[in-house]
Amino acid sequence: MPSASHHLLLLLLSLSSLSSTLSRFVVEKSSIRVLSPEHIRAKHDGAIANFGIPDYGGTMTGVVLYPDKGTTGCNPFGGPPFGSKSGRPVVLLLDRGDCYFALKAWNAQNAGAAAVLVADSIDEPLLTMDTPEESKDEGYIEKITIPSALVNRAFGEALKKAIEKGTEEVVVKLDWRESMPHPDERVEYEFWTNSNDECGIRCDEQMNFVKNFKGHAQVLEKTGFTQFTPHYITWYCPQPFLTSRQCKSQCINHGRYCSPDPEQNFGEGYEGKDVVVENLRQLCVHRVANESNRSWVWWDFVTDFHARCSMKEKKYSKECAEDVIKSLRLSLDKIKECMGDPEADVDNEVLKTEQKVQVGRGSRSDVTILPTLVINNVQYRGILERTAVLKAICAGFKESTEPPVCLSGDVETNECLESNGGCWEDIRSNVTACKDTFRGRICECPTANGIQYQGDGYTSCKAVGPARCSLNNGGCWSETRNGQTFSACSELQLSGCRCPFSFRGDGHTCEDVDECKERLACQCDGCTCKNTWGGYDCKCKGNLLYIKGEDICIAKRTSRFGLFMTILVLACLAGAGVAAYVFYKYRLRSYMDSEIMAIMSQYMPLDNQQTEGQPLRQDSAI
Ligand SMILES: *[C@@H]1O[C@H](CO)[C@@H](O)[C@H](O)[C@H]1NC(C)=O
Ligand SMILES: *[C@@H]1O[C@H](CO)[C@@H](O)[C@H](O)[C@H]1NC(C)=O
Ligand SMILES: *[C@@H]1O[C@H](CO)[C@@H](O)[C@H](O)[C@H]1NC(C)=O
Repeated sequence: MPSASHHLLLLLLSLSSLSSTLSRFVVEKSSIRVLSPEHIRAKHDGAIANFGIPDYGGTMTGVVLYPDKGTTGCNPFGGPPFGSKSGRPVVLLLDRGDCYFALKAWNAQNAGAAAVLVADSIDEPLLTMDTPEESKDEGYIEKITIPSALVNRAFGEALKKAIEKGTEEVVVKLDWRESMPHPDERVEYEFWTNSNDECGIRCDEQMNFVKNFKGHAQVLEKTGFTQFTPHYITWYCPQPFLTSRQCKSQCINHGRYCSPDPEQNFGEGYEGKDVVVENLRQLCVHRVANESNRSWVWWDFVTDFHARCSMKEKKYSKECAEDVIKSLRLSLDKIKECMGDPEADVDNEVLKTEQKVQVGRGSRSDVTILPTLVINNVQYRGILERTAVLKAICAGFKESTEPPVCLSGDVETNECLESNGGCWEDIRSNVTACKDTFRGRICECPTANGIQYQGDGYTSCKAVGPARCSLNNGGCWSETRNGQTFSACSELQLSGCRCPFSFRGDGHTCEDVDECKERLACQCDGCTCKNTWGGYDCKCKGNLLYIKGEDICIAKRTSRFGLFMTILVLACLAGAGVAAYVFYKYRLRSYMDSEIMAIMSQYMPLDNQQTEGQPLRQDSAI
């Protein structure tokens, strides 16, 4: 059976690199909207590449350029970097063919492109641009940070034609906002991996990702923002080969669950069987940890296992793995129970489940490439790198329910650094409405220095609330003369400006009112009126006392009752002094002082009380 044995060899030896064309594979897409020129305005799909950093949750507007020569992008572009007339980012359009997609993206990135569109060379459905298997040579793949997408031939031709015409810049908006579903407040994600670390670049990529992402993963899991599940691909041995040496060394449970030999050499090193058993152990570590609500311990186990029991370094043994389990305070008995007997001719419930979920359902692809990350049931495309993945996970939350890590510096876009992102700002007080988030910048009136701002965030933000007068006097009038200050900003009022007593105006300018001239006060018989800035003095004739509230003069009483009243009023004054001092502390000074004085001056001629308490001193008789 030459064809069957050939098939077996293929199955067993190249399992880890099953090509994407073998099975149901969903091409993950972003949208590309042509904004200009007008006549080709439309929305198209682009297939997100499996390298670079797609801007999940975000958008990018750029100008499409098509190189004059070297249109496949297989050779480095000499000369000055690409640039657009309008200064917008450059989206470089390249032709498919002649070299790896990733190399095109790398050359484009080096030539200053912000994104790459590869135009297909034939008419066919979109496909995912993947990384080459053998790219160890130059290691440029990890360095690709720009997003790339494949577009179909017809769309590519339309773009080229518009560029050739040259009458107008061809502007497109790349949009990844709908590339990641974000239905609710929790993100479910899966990572398809392998305990074997001898598969070269792909294994190194996986391990580096797990190490670097562990911190984020654990915080997200502990705070309940995500539900993470690790997965491991297994294969099975075809019936006719159950007793073959290959199946015996690469499978457990009588050919039910297999994994390719790590170094693809049956005579040496670890066997495929060791890998399957270890995969099973790691699955059970997650199950058992999850049962005690410590699911994140899986990340510790995998990184510790790699450091202590690496297969590549020939340090792997069952005992080594079990030591790691014990050091993480997981129940070894429970894990052994979960793993069952690998030699028995029975199904293993855990691995059987894995084989089932490997097959795609609904919008979800079959898992055929290792490593594979599935977020909210959509396969992640792009480089397996900490910030890129975090961004994609963040894009999976319903808007405004993202965990704090998504809003921190780690994934922000830094759009505010440039022209303040087009948002409102007050340069004098260094306050801005621009806020960088992973979804792009937002313009939102801030709360800064304890002052709350309200407005649309783009053209205006106004200080509101109690602390507003501390900043630039809330934009209101204020003036000081002879150590006396009056202000049109009242902290008792939440917004707006109002001229204080004895002043008139719109709050931005206020003028003293001459009470005497306008006959507003001091109209008592025989009284002498003298206007002051911010008030007036009124003197009664003879020995009479002026009562401001009633605007009358009364005889000074000298009875015991009068003495009692005087003491009472003095006590009130002292109390009010203390109270005013407290207000002073809370910056209510200028306004409250005048209020208090107004009340108190109804009882006492304040000329005589100027030394009573320091805080009161500042104010004059109204
Ligand atoms: C982990 O536990 C949660 C409940 O705490 C459960 O919903 C989830 O299915 C478990 N995951 C696995 C892989 O067992
Ligand atoms: C784990 O959490 C679930 C619900 O969140 C709870 O029902 C269960 O009792 C917890 N298990 C342990 C061991 O704390
Ligand atoms: C404005 O504030 C930012 C941080 O809020 C600070 O980094 C910057 O130096 C400030 N600029 C000025 C001019 O005060």
